[in-house]
Amino acid sequence: MFKKIMALVAVGVLATACGGGGETTADGGAPAASGGGDSTITMGFAQVGAESGWRTANTKSVQESAKAAGIDLKFSDAQQKQENQIKAIRSYIQQKVDVIAFSPVVESGWDTVLQEAKAANIPVILTDRAVDSADKTLYKTFLGSDFVEEGKKAGQWLVEQYASETGDVNIVELQGTTGSAPANDRKSGFAEVIGADPKFKVIASQSGDFTRAKGKEVMDAFLKAHPDIDVLYAHNDDMGLGAIEAIEGAGKVPGKDIKIITVDAVKDGMQALADGKINYIVECSPLLGPQLMDLAKKVLAGETVPDRVVTEETTFTQEQAKQALPTRQY
Ligand code: AHR
Repeated sequence: MFKKIMALVAVGVLATACGGGGETTADGGAPAASGGGDSTITMGFAQVGAESGWRTANTKSVQESAKAAGIDLKFSDAQQKQENQIKAIRSYIQQKVDVIAFSPVVESGWDTVLQEAKAANIPVILTDRAVDSADKTLYKTFLGSDFVEEGKKAGQWLVEQYASETGDVNIVELQGTTGSAPANDRKSGFAEVIGADPKFKVIASQSGDFTRAKGKEVMDAFLKAHPDIDVLYAHNDDMGLGAIEAIEGAGKVPGKDIKIITVDAVKDGMQALADGKINYIVECSPLLGPQLMDLAKKVLAGETVPDRVVTEETTFTQEQAKQALPTRQY
């Protein structure tokens, strides 16, 4: 709809330039649309799925912010499958939405569909996760966390906790969805920091697909294969919470026998942190909706936006979680 209005505005400008007497407003701007049109922006949003508490909070933030900004949101849930996201984006292109936003389930394989959006003149905004396309003109901006930094923060806490330890520290890692930006980056950021000291040994590392059920399943297998686990690093709270069930099921005490670091800081994770079952959480904020709507409006108004907008985030110890929980939004 927004594009139709822009076309009408262009016709009006042309008519004025040709002496056709096109209307302008008092401030010289374009006239308000009349005759049944409106200037509502339509956004097609292709969400990853509903794999975690983080994702649920992110979806809510996008939906509520679209409503508050007066943006007509078309929303689809890809159930963690890239082919579903590609289908959704193609459908948004066919429907001629004004702007497409999406959180890519994995980093690779987007060039063709992004070229189709570009050919249709529909701007794309990446939210939450990155793509590895070499052609940066395929999207207008990327809004989301610095996942490498999150991995580094997790590693730094571990290094500080074990500063006086001389023996090996055996770590197991629950990775996020294979090929996704947060799994790749949280792994590499963490590895970079702990790699400086050879006592830190990652003895097992496997994907738990960012879900609680898979986190439990993989942790069960880790516990059977490795009786000597000191630390679990889970790429999100949900996998950490699933792993806690596995650890308790194996007769061990989470947070004590096995120290646990997770990423996200959703309410359930923060509660487990406050209860002493998790030891440290690196925050990853899902509340991207307001900034996304703002960026979409700017892009459609032809304003310059930064290539990258990084979300501000913090970290939580057990004491900090107790203080933050009563006012935690998600
Ligand atoms: O892309 C953000 C990640 O995706 C969150 O950390 C995780 O919980 C979610 O599934």
